[in-house]
Amino acid sequence: MIKCISCGKEYPIDEIIYTCKECGAILEVIINPDVSKDVFDCRKQTMWKYKEFMPVDESKIVSLEEGGTPFCKCDKLGEELGIDLYVKVEGSNPTGSFKDRGMSVGITKAMELGVNTVGCASTGNTSASLAAYAARAGVRCVVLLPSGKVALGKLAQAMFHGAEVLSVKGNFDEALEAVTALALEGQLYLLNSVNPFRLEGQKSIGFEIVDDLGWKSPDRIILPVGNAGNISAIWKGINEFYEAGFIEDRPMMTGIQAEGACPIVNAVRKGKMEIDPVTQPETVATAIRIGAPVSSLKALRAIYDSDGYADTVTDEEILSAQKLLARKEGIGVEPASAASIAGLIKLVEEGVVEKGEQVVCIVTGHLLKDPNTAIDACVEPLEVDADINKLAAILNNK
Ligand code: F0G
Repeated sequence: MIKCISCGKEYPIDEIIYTCKECGAILEVIINPDVSKDVFDCRKQTMWKYKEFMPVDESKIVSLEEGGTPFCKCDKLGEELGIDLYVKVEGSNPTGSFKDRGMSVGITKAMELGVNTVGCASTGNTSASLAAYAARAGVRCVVLLPSGKVALGKLAQAMFHGAEVLSVKGNFDEALEAVTALALEGQLYLLNSVNPFRLEGQKSIGFEIVDDLGWKSPDRIILPVGNAGNISAIWKGINEFYEAGFIEDRPMMTGIQAEGACPIVNAVRKGKMEIDPVTQPETVATAIRIGAPVSSLKALRAIYDSDGYADTVTDEEILSAQKLLARKEGIGVEPASAASIAGLIKLVEEGVVEKGEQVVCIVTGHLLKDPNTAIDACVEPLEVDADINKLAAILNNK
């Protein structure tokens, strides 16, 4: 069943619908499988390990074996901060971001519904992922990208997998409005995170975290927030496992936004349930350069209901955290992903995160998604002759 998160109106699971016909709010999928967690034992480490919780026809699954991503204990950084730190490395998914989890379920649903065109607006990763899964399923794919603002790795992926890529004059929020209008006209099946089936895949991040911790909840999960689908999805996953009796506690959901694109943080600071859209969002973390997140109500509920938190970080803090994680722990992530680490550092300094807390930071996309920002942050390599004496002299000078 699909259900409105505001007025509770229910819709059949196979209806193509993105917002409630009664009140206009967004929707969620309701699923209550009656299974023991023992069924997960010995299954392959992909998100389909938890297939009973995925509301799609098992015989139609379109998968690139997404999920089952590394869960790295980061002792060096953790000890420096005085916490027990794990980093969930979503850049290890097939197209290099967590979006693959959502697209696997989303495209499977598209196959069930028999649609022949799928589409999305994107700051980059959603389009890269959709293009790959649409190719695998053999359906037409149309993506709308804010012109000149998409990191090159993501643009290359969308084009290379054969999507029809349209560069929209405007920002992400405007592109999303346009593609939503196309979807409502029936021109394409929309696979932005307003589509509740996307979040059904992404909730598996929450499943994996508690499974990796031996069926325990961490104290806190910290992640970057853009269109606000992922924080909502992970909270949904955590609650499903809590309701099923698989875990006894739940984490404080902590969302981090860039200072120049922070409508959710502004709402939390005022204790409000509605956001005021940011009309000209700006940040080096282009993935989260979003002013009017569609899942803001779900995200705000996740933050309030979990006794969580939300805060901003500056572009400078993001870039410095990106480098720190790469050099101290060997984990290369794109700028938006580093917002979670930058946020953690800030919250430890402010005493919001307490000493000894067990914290999971989700790093959402791979370093090479945004190669230009990575290269710009480094000095040019030294050009040398392939001469052992000259090379040795250079090494010994250092
Ligand atoms: N991190 C990365 C790397 C992302 O690509 C995104 C969103 C987010 C974090 C934020 O997640 O939107 O669920 O709050 N990227 C979308 C896109 C908007 O089009 O690729 P969110």
